[in-house]
Order: sequence, then C-alpha cells, then structure tokens
Amino acid sequence: MSADISLYNTHPDEYNDIQNLRPDYKKAIEMTVELAIKYMHGKNSISIADFCGGTGAITKKIADIINIDKAKIVDTNQEFLNIAERADIKTKKLETACSDILDIKLDREYDLILSIFAYHHIPDDKKEKYLKQVVDGLKENGILILTEIYLPNKKITLNYYHKLLDEMSEKSPILEKFITETAESTDYEFKVSRGFADRQMTELGLTEIECIKIWPLDNTLDKDIGTFVQIFKNTNKS
Ligand SMILES: C[S@@+](CC[C@H](N)C(=O)[O-])C[C@H]1O[C@@H](n2cnc3c(N)ncnc32)[C@H](O)[C@@H]1O
Repeated sequence: MSADISLYNTHPDEYNDIQNLRPDYKKAIEMTVELAIKYMHGKNSISIADFCGGTGAITKKIADIINIDKAKIVDTNQEFLNIAERADIKTKKLETACSDILDIKLDREYDLILSIFAYHHIPDDKKEKYLKQVVDGLKENGILILTEIYLPNKKITLNYYHKLLDEMSEKSPILEKFITETAESTDYEFKVSRGFADRQMTELGLTEIECIKIWPLDNTLDKDIGTFVQIFKNTNKS
C-alpha cells in the first residue's frame, strides 16, 4: 500500500479534487480523454481496462462521451473502488477488482487499456511484468494510453515538484503535503526516464503512435523530462 504518501489513505474523497489543482495532472487527464475518444472513434462494443484506476474518474469521463460496453477498474485501494462503484459510470458492465495489478489474470479482450500515473507505482524490476499484463489484456491493435511522469533521478524529481508547487496558484496544506511526500517517497514512487519506458514498450511489441508533452512546456527541464501522454498500439499477433 501507499506507505509514505498519506493522501491515498487518509483523504480518498478529496483525492480527485486535490490532483486536479495540479497543472500537470489536470492537463494530462484532459488530453488522455481527448485521445481515448480519438482512438476509439468508429469502434463498437468497446471494452476498457483501467490499470491502477483509483476512483475510476478517467473511465467515467470517457464513458460520458462514447458508448462503453465493459469497463474493468483494478486498484489496490478498496476505498477508491467504492467511489468508482458509486460514480454512475455509463457502461453496460462495470467490474472492479481490489488487487495488485500484477496478480490479475487477463484475456485479450480490451480495446483500450488506461495506465494513468500508474506505471511509476510499480517497482522497476516489476515494470516489465506490468507491461506484459497490458499485452495480455489488449486485443491485437488495441490501444494503450500511457500517461506518465518521466523523471530520471532524485535531483530532477525534486526540481520537478518544486517547480510544480511554485506554479500552482491555488494551494492547500493537504496539496502541499501530498506534493512533498510524492517528491520524497522512497517506497511508492518509482519514476524512470522516458528512454527506460520506451525501450520496454518496444521490446514487448507496444508501438508508439503518438506522444504529447504536457508539462512543463518551458525549457527549464530537458525535452524528455516531465509529464507525457503516449499512445501505443499492441502490434503482437493474436
Ligand atoms: C496516482 S494514482 C492514479 C489513479 C488514477 N489512475 C488517476 O489517474 O487518477 C495511483 C493509483 O495506483 C494504485 N496502485 C498503486 N500500486 C498498485 C498496484 N500494484 N496494483 C494496483 N493498483 C495500484 C493506487 O492505489 C492509486 O489509486
């Protein structure tokens, strides 16, 4: 569980509101939803799996716009899943599973897998297994949306979160504590470089078809550092 970041445990009802005060998170979610709509356009009987999907807020935003037949939300936090179950997500079938994402058995039935600020919660030596779960779950040519923060080392991680706090106009003690704990976390945050992630994707047959940088858009950090929304296609044959 989220040992050294208290927001996940102590304020589940405030989680979405707090995250949405962050320019990186808010813009990344807007872009994630826009791209999900774009890549699911013209498909019927759409099924979505939301890996580490928390309160299901992103699946809900997508399901408000396009017809979804099935949505599965997997998370280790039962309180988040309770919120997802009460959220009136517009889908014919909603499944939630309180489980480590690495322990879930998936068939190749999903058109879209969402990995939204999730990959960095998986320890580096298990990230490949996490992506194999994606490959196991996606149909051939199915789409992975990987919304992720790439930070290659601790110094840059601290710079990123200092800059984020500096640029936020609306701050609260809960938000500041959350950002500080996230920046300093040693047992729940395992952020890597974009190159690390891209190499793993390529090796597993997940082919990048679009990549959009979200934040920061000035030149204070390297072009490959920061928050990105990436679209990958599962090019493995069934
Ligand atoms: C930063 S939150 C993102 C939640 C959601 N995707 C969003 O963008 O709002 C990370 C989520 O991952 C969940 N989580 C962390 N490690 C997990 C694991 N191994 N298996 C399943 N869920 C996990 C946490 O409980 C939390 O809800």
